[in-house]
Amino acid sequence: MTAMQKFFWFIASFGNIFALYLVFQDVSVSTLILLILTASYSSIGYFDMYHSKHSLNRLYPVVAHIRYFLESYRVEIQQYFIANDIEEQPFSREQRSLVYQRAKNVRDTIAFGTQRDLLEDNYLSLWQSLHPKVVTDDAKRVRFGGPGCLKPYDASYLNISAMSFGSLSASAIEALNLGALKAGCYQNTGEGGASPYHLKHRGDLVWQIGSGLFGCRDNKGNFNPESYRAMATKAQIKMIEIKLSQGAKPGHGGVLPAAKITDEIAAIRHIDKHKDCVSPAVNPECTTPKDLLNFVVKLRTLSGGKPVGFKLCIGNPVEFLSLCKAMIETGITPDFITVDGAEGGTGAAPVEFTNRLGMMCLEGVYFVHNALIGVGLREKIKIIASGKTASSFDLLAKIAMGADSVNAARTMMMSLGCIQSRHCNTNMCPTGIATQDPVRNKAINVVEKSERVKHFHRNTIKNFYELVGSIGLDNPAKLMPQMLKRRTPYGLLMSVGSLIEPLKHNDLVDEVSIDGPWSAWWHMANSEHFYSEDTYILSPAEFTRAKHASQSINQTKAGESPPLS
Ligand SMILES: Cc1cc2nc3c(=O)[nH]c(=O)nc-3n(C[C@H](O)[C@H](O)[C@H](O)COP(=O)(O)O)c2cc1C
Ligand code: SF4
Repeated sequence: MTAMQKFFWFIASFGNIFALYLVFQDVSVSTLILLILTASYSSIGYFDMYHSKHSLNRLYPVVAHIRYFLESYRVEIQQYFIANDIEEQPFSREQRSLVYQRAKNVRDTIAFGTQRDLLEDNYLSLWQSLHPKVVTDDAKRVRFGGPGCLKPYDASYLNISAMSFGSLSASAIEALNLGALKAGCYQNTGEGGASPYHLKHRGDLVWQIGSGLFGCRDNKGNFNPESYRAMATKAQIKMIEIKLSQGAKPGHGGVLPAAKITDEIAAIRHIDKHKDCVSPAVNPECTTPKDLLNFVVKLRTLSGGKPVGFKLCIGNPVEFLSLCKAMIETGITPDFITVDGAEGGTGAAPVEFTNRLGMMCLEGVYFVHNALIGVGLREKIKIIASGKTASSFDLLAKIAMGADSVNAARTMMMSLGCIQSRHCNTNMCPTGIATQDPVRNKAINVVEKSERVKHFHRNTIKNFYELVGSIGLDNPAKLMPQMLKRRTPYGLLMSVGSLIEPLKHNDLVDEVSIDGPWSAWWHMANSEHFYSEDTYILSPAEFTRAKHASQSINQTKAGESPPLS
């Protein structure tokens, strides 16, 4: 018998008898409460020991419930009582506070200096100029629309990333859209399609089409040009995005848990209400690079010439280069490519996919930026980046690495009041944002929350322009990867991305001056199919050079001569 079982038998026998005895002696509130307590304890304990399915309950009657209770509030307890300002994941208290302050439009400065360890490995920073500038007004929008586009769109540097109605509540979608309208940015609909809540306030939309083709499919699940055209030609739809993959679950289709599927969502998506809605991992219209590009043309034509692009998380680099080869061979280019980082968020995903797959945003953006330069197509295609954008520096880092604009999802949810409780996949969101429960949904005041979205956007953008100015630039488009510095384990600040050689215009096509990974990847790339074996072993010469350089600095400081390389 465990100590708790012995204790149970002690209370169940002597405790109850003693409580009964006291009640017979003196019937008062306190003796009655004591009797109720011992009797409840005994019944719960008896049930635990002889009927519970959990061995923990059987061995530790009654107290095991305390453990389950505390476990269900583990995230909150850790968040409120244990974690410090910078250690919480995915967003630290410091990052969240910044978003909340900017969303509420209250003081967002800190006192007494940084709390960060500036010598930490991989710490990112910038080198400022002695001649700061002011970003000019004409440099504050980004034009989307390549050669085949008839209706270009001028977007903000920061926009609302894809999150579907279904994953988010109707009020959250509305508040984001009204916020986008007030802030002058766009909202991406997410793969669930453009719902009435996206359309109600007339904020700019990017319509996302996922592998489930929600919003533009027929009864059999095939692409339906007529329903696509009807939506895509609406004035509110500014661009169309084909979703190939998403950083939090690349290689896996979208997941909407059955708990969150209402009659309305089932009707909008044409799906079964009682089963998890799992979209296929591969978009049926885009199984080869050339199919994807032909689909881009089809969507662009049917939309009347609006910018069309696709979203993906970079995995095997060869496959992206296969796509580049297909662009060269067909002459078809998307208007934009959205690069989502492995650190990205989701409403629901298998844990291994979230933790172990895909390139991080900065690495993916740097790779795509250079690949497009290498094939001479960079001017025709815009790059959008997404992955944990909480501060203006996060925004700037992505632009510096090669993005033209940035999408944010979770911090936009935080501007609505999300407290990072991470129950988005349960329909039990405590703030009414990621739930379809009508009672919780009502907790969101659409107009008030849209103001928060507006303020978060405005304040982040304002600080972004100031940061760009502080490094001596008057236009964010002039940011370059080498301006972003990363502290290495060798005590030296290196340009982020310097481990993979930056390419020059047409380097890949001309095949003259490239070697190392780029050359190997390029030769393996095949425009006829995506899948390619990942056979290249990365052993960058730059890495060795950087190591030597830092040794040289340390030894020179110590009065020794630098080693010969
Ligand atoms: C609740 C939620 C729902 C999402 N739904 C979609 C979606 O429908 N389509 C998509 O491409 N990405 C979706 N995402 C991913 C985001 O659009 C974004 O790419 C990713 O979270 C990275 O941005 P963040 O770090 O700013 O959150 C979702 C993310 C969240 C948190
Ligand atoms: S409050 Fe929690 S459940 Fe709701 S959106 Fe935020 S993380 Fe998800």
